[in-house]
Amino acid sequence: MTTHLDTYKALPAAQQPEWPDAGARDEAIESLEKLPPLVFAGEADVLRERLAQAASGHAFVLHGGDCAEIFAEVSADRIRNKLRTILQMAVVLTYGASQPVVKMGRIAGQYAKPRSSNTETRDGVTLPAYRGDAINAFPFTAEARKPDPWRMVEAYHRSSATLNLARAFTTGGFADLRFVAEWNRGFVANPAFARYEEIAAEVDRAISFMAACGADFDALKAVEFFAGHEALLLDYERALTRIDSRTGAAYDCSAHFLWIGDRTRDPEAAHVELLSKVRNPIGVKLGPAAQPGDVLRLLDRLDPEAQPGRLTLITRMGAGHVRTLLPPLVRAVQGAGRTPVWMCDPMHGNTIAFGGYKTRRFDDIMAEVKGFFEVHRDAGTIPGGLHIELTGDDVTEVLGGSETIDEEGLARRYETLVDPRLNHQQSLEMAFQVAEMIRGHRG
Ligand code: PEP
Ligand code: CO
Repeated sequence: MTTHLDTYKALPAAQQPEWPDAGARDEAIESLEKLPPLVFAGEADVLRERLAQAASGHAFVLHGGDCAEIFAEVSADRIRNKLRTILQMAVVLTYGASQPVVKMGRIAGQYAKPRSSNTETRDGVTLPAYRGDAINAFPFTAEARKPDPWRMVEAYHRSSATLNLARAFTTGGFADLRFVAEWNRGFVANPAFARYEEIAAEVDRAISFMAACGADFDALKAVEFFAGHEALLLDYERALTRIDSRTGAAYDCSAHFLWIGDRTRDPEAAHVELLSKVRNPIGVKLGPAAQPGDVLRLLDRLDPEAQPGRLTLITRMGAGHVRTLLPPLVRAVQGAGRTPVWMCDPMHGNTIAFGGYKTRRFDDIMAEVKGFFEVHRDAGTIPGGLHIELTGDDVTEVLGGSETIDEEGLARRYETLVDPRLNHQQSLEMAFQVAEMIRGHRG
């Protein structure tokens, strides 16, 4: 059945796979359409309210997770480590900002990737590029690289299992603030991170104070956690778009939050069209090529009613450009009287090739965050959150940090199939540094 939700099908759609078997594609889509939603419309509405708080400077958003999730890594340990990292960072940021931190994962659906080329050539052999586990598999063989629509159904089931565990972890006692503070004590006990001891000790004292006052620790035992991913694969997102029985409005029930990538944000093309029709909070990535006019057009297309919390602009300019490229965008949006959430993605503008690896320098990442805060301070606008690629494991994919990872270090445990991620310790280090920046910004 064709509905107003299908208007995107008439528009150009970048970064879509060519499914080799149309019959299999239709069957897979039909199966997805019959499966239950992964999130409820009401939860997406709650997230929109939380993001509205961030847009007005009353909350800060932490959105983190893998560049690309992979099926083989949907395990209890990996998911727990990721959540633990996000929760630990969030406690530090909550303290630094003296504000609620909206906690969100790049998780439970981050299975489709935009690529710079449709094909990859190795030793004279050319095959389709790896586009994420929802589409094809990574090994460099014709069989693995062939797009298989049933992988979308597998992505749904893996997302469902991931989200189920994330919900259990965040509401079932694991997220108790006292445990999280205990893990942070373990982190600063490492001499490499001694410079963060002072702020960690302050967090500890604040928690002891609350406990001494008889604060209701039941309320501190559970956290709200949201899932978000790039809405890239239109067949998947459309199949999970459902009509809310309460209001008749459409929601993309594959996640609470969906963002449109820098490569698919053409205001007149398919991704913007589909997402303009759903009520979830939506993000748009803005890279160095983004012009003020593009951004204003996106505001009109995606948020014509200027609904608080609806739109998040995620800027990723690179450390060397954030101070020159971000101000014109901020001024244009401000001039239009709009207050989206401004989030900083300090990862994607700082990717380099080094020693045969795709990597990033921790110092460049931090420099972009710093530039982001300064630009917003100068403009009088609100730096509302951070969007980062991280894992809870001790991988070695990003250069630098206090426990220095150098060229040799990269070889030790480089596991990502797409972009390099901050490891557990680098993530915490970032949180401590950003907590200091937020205090400086607000103070
Ligand atoms: C990503 O977030 O992994 C990504 C591809 O980002 P961007 O759209 O900003 O390039
Ligand atoms: Co990435």
